[in-house]
Amino acid sequence: MVVEEQKYMLNQIKTEFNKQIDQCRSLEELEKIRISFLGRKEKLSLVLKGLKDLPEDERKKAGQDANKIKQDIEMRLGGKMRELESVETAKKLKNEQIDITQPVIGGRELGNLHPLTQTQNEIEDIFASMGFMILDGPELESEYYNFEALNIPSWHPAREMQDTFYVKSQKSVKSKVSKTEDNNRLLMRTHTSTMQVRAMLKYGAPIRAIVSGRCFRNEATDVRHEHTFDQFEGFVVGEDISISNLIAVLEVFAKALFGEDTKIRMRPKYYPFVEPGSNGEITCSICHGKGCRLCKYTGWLEIFGCGLIHPNVLKAGNINLEKYSGFAFGFGLTRVVQLKHRIEDVRLFNSGDLRFLKQF
Ligand code: DAH
Repeated sequence: MVVEEQKYMLNQIKTEFNKQIDQCRSLEELEKIRISFLGRKEKLSLVLKGLKDLPEDERKKAGQDANKIKQDIEMRLGGKMRELESVETAKKLKNEQIDITQPVIGGRELGNLHPLTQTQNEIEDIFASMGFMILDGPELESEYYNFEALNIPSWHPAREMQDTFYVKSQKSVKSKVSKTEDNNRLLMRTHTSTMQVRAMLKYGAPIRAIVSGRCFRNEATDVRHEHTFDQFEGFVVGEDISISNLIAVLEVFAKALFGEDTKIRMRPKYYPFVEPGSNGEITCSICHGKGCRLCKYTGWLEIFGCGLIHPNVLKAGNINLEKYSGFAFGFGLTRVVQLKHRIEDVRLFNSGDLRFLKQF
């Protein structure tokens, strides 16, 4: 092979390579090009092999030329490979991208909070804005906190109205504060008022607190009665607390939950743990006081009990009677939610029926 021939071949290789690489559109094609130009049995290798037959004085220069072309080819192959790789990655990413704004088709359903919990949260926000603590208490309670500490001794007829489920107690769970064997029994609490004395003993005065939770009574169930229902209880102990404070707090609450035009009224009623005690009503949330089926055409709905905390209860809570007085109120949370959403059958709340729950 003479030098001229060699030069000609190298030029041809170069031109051909440049043409092919410019047209190349995929990594697969690129690999084919690489093999056809740099493969051991391919043109460039033949040229390089042929070098040894050249006259010595020309061999060096020809070798340099051939190697230069080889290097150029390798460099361009590398550059093209990176270029194609990034194009292919971009294409792949484009195919994989998801549109997060697209609605899920036949997708997973999100759950929602139970209507009782929703309203409980709303109520707690309202009272928290007035500086009330949000407390929680045990559902399995001692007879002492449920009755005796609330001025309901064992012989009291009020116990009859709040019959509940008693649990056999063991010595180890007996309440330390109870005085007789009898009121050591454990029961499912009948109201959230149980937390009044517990909170007074724990936090002392002054105190403002609200407690929501499940309560239990021995009831035959029907549209209006359930053995398991929810209440919330509020109480304030402080200096110079009077019935006016009670009315003011309840008015703020009723307007926030049921609307600005809501009014409240109180009528005397006996509860052993308050003195004076009162039955609280709000203007009917449906007819706004005009009279309808829900309020039995009175314009008013009876939804809470309240009063000034009885001295015996404050005493049980270790409160200094010379200095402090207080008020308390209790609402049926279940009843409030029934009114809010016009739910006629109370048994739906604990039914676990999704057709009911999905509506909120
Ligand atoms: N605990 C009472 C009940 O379940 C409701 C109640 C009435 C709570 C008067 C109070 C109150 O705090 O002052 O029937």
